Amino acid sequence: MKINLSDEKAREMHHILMSIIAPRPIAWVSTVSEDGIYNLAPFSAFCVMSVNPAIVGFNSAAFRDGRKKDTLINIESNGEYVINMVDESLAEAMNITSASFPPQTDEFQEADLTTVKADLVKVPMVGESPVNLECRLRQILKFGEEPMTNNFIIGDVLLIHVKDEYYSNEEINASALKLIGRLGGRGIDRYCRTTDSFKMQRPV
Ligand SMILES: Cc1cc2nc3c(=O)[nH]c(=O)nc-3n(C[C@H](O)[C@H](O)[C@H](O)COP(=O)(O)O)c2cc1C
Repeated sequence: MKINLSDEKAREMHHILMSIIAPRPIAWVSTVSEDGIYNLAPFSAFCVMSVNPAIVGFNSAAFRDGRKKDTLINIESNGEYVINMVDESLAEAMNITSASFPPQTDEFQEADLTTVKADLVKVPMVGESPVNLECRLRQILKFGEEPMTNNFIIGDVLLIHVKDEYYSNEEINASALKLIGRLGGRGIDRYCRTTDSFKMQRPV
């Protein structure tokens, strides 16, 4: 079977790419609107783009009717955001924040989450997240035709917060974080746990 993406419609392309590029980490992105409303939404088209300097990126695709997502609107307006990492205990709250609430809705309140003040950006962090990355916008790469654009949001990581229980002897206890990942599939969203891991020695 060969799939030529130039023959596919946007919805099919989403299904194909998300099914085979998996598992994906989830950037749970908090932002603030011009009116001071807190916004929170998950994005799994998310990756590390550079280690030094530390740069991460995620893709905000337009809604099916062509509207921009609130996350993109807020970042375009003030350039600041926090990426909160999602562990197993936060899966349901994260899912609630993926609903397309109107911009006036505070999604921290909708998902019953605690806002914690960040140090360097004017955007709240999710208090329940094991790790929070304070970020400043560096660049937005736009792909596709208006209005159905994909906006890849690239930002510098300014400060990382790790809950004390996951950090000792200058090391992050990665397996204790219990982060979840997003998988592909049709009809219902599928996720995976990171607790079923294995070790392998790299060749020298
Ligand atoms: C696990 C998960 C991952 C998602 N990943 C993306 C993504 O990578 N890009 C995207 O545009 N939307 C993604 N979404 C959908 C957005 O979260 C959703 O459209 C949300 O309503 C956007 O909120 P906002 O308008 O407040 O920014 C994802 C949803 C879930 C549940």
